[in-house]
Parts: sequence; structure tokens; C-alpha cells
Amino acid sequence: MQDLPNLILIGPMGAGKSTIGRLLAAELSREFLDSDHEIQARCGADIPWIFDVEGEAGFRQREEQMIAELTELDGVVIATGGGAVLRESNRRRLRERGTVIYLFTTVEQQLKRVAKDRNRPLLQRPDREQVLREMFDLRDPLYRATADVVVRTDRRSPRAVVNEIVRRV
Ligand code: S3P
Repeated sequence: MQDLPNLILIGPMGAGKSTIGRLLAAELSREFLDSDHEIQARCGADIPWIFDVEGEAGFRQREEQMIAELTELDGVVIATGGGAVLRESNRRRLRERGTVIYLFTTVEQQLKRVAKDRNRPLLQRPDREQVLREMFDLRDPLYRATADVVVRTDRRSPRAVVNEIVRRV
């Protein structure tokens, strides 16, 4: 039997990758794996701790290793961290190993979703709107270049997004 392709969710913080990934996996009776969650479990520490002690570079190293491992699997739903597309090696790996779905959202929607968040080190600063806008400008083209499918998640329920993904992949 041919291996079932993975379904890989990419997109910025607050796009709904974890929520939608969990629902999508349940809908298709597949296993769900969240890269950030797996990194924390492996390390025995949370993401703010990793950024504090090892810096963003240390986190990106762990993330690359985790993406390499998760994409070895077949037929699973994978949620990646928002910065996973920054490394060319990750982009290539994601494209080779699954159908990649870009969960698009706007900066306005992100701001609503991550307003009280303490678990995202890159946003723990007063100018988080500016940070998100700069990230959008840098990363949106990378998400688009990596994705097979782009699905909007702003102003829609997770269920509506899952239904669209199921229709399109
Ligand atoms: C990051 C996004 C986070 C997490 C880390 C860095 C980023 O994941 O990997 O804080 O660079 O955008 P989520 O997209 O799941 O919030």
C-alpha cells in the first residue's frame, strides 16, 4: 500500500494551527502532532525557558530537528510553529513530506488571539503589533512558496476551516 501523505499546517502565531490541526485529525481519524508541544516534551521545559537559556537560535535548532523527525511519519496531521518556514531546509522537508496548508490570518486577528499570551517570547514586548507586521511581510511570501493550499482562518470558525481543508486536499 502506498504511504498516506501527511497534512502539514503552517502559518503565523494565532492562525489556529493547533486548534484546527486537532479538529482536522479527529475528522480524518489521523494522529495529530504539534511541533512546539513535542519540542517542549523532549526538552522538559517550556518555550519561554528555551528562548531564555538557548536563545532563538537554540530553539530553531531544536525545531529543525523536530520537523525532520515528525515528517518521517506517514499519514499524520502536523502543526508547525510560526517560524518553521524561516529555514530553507525546513521548507524543503515540509514540501517533500506532505500536503502543506497555509492557514492565513491578518495581523488584526492575530492581535486579538494572542493578546494575553505569555508563552510566545517573540511577542513579549510593547510594540507587538509592529513585530507582527514585520513578521507578516517577511514570512507571508515564505508560507505561500511552501504551501500547496492557502486557507483563510480570520472571521471563520475552526469547523468551517476544517471543512474547507477536507474539501480541498
Ligand atoms: C514562533 C511561533 C511559536 C513558537 C515560537 C516561535 C514564531 O509557535 O514556535 O514561539 O517564530 O512565529 P506558534 O505559531 O504555534 O505560536
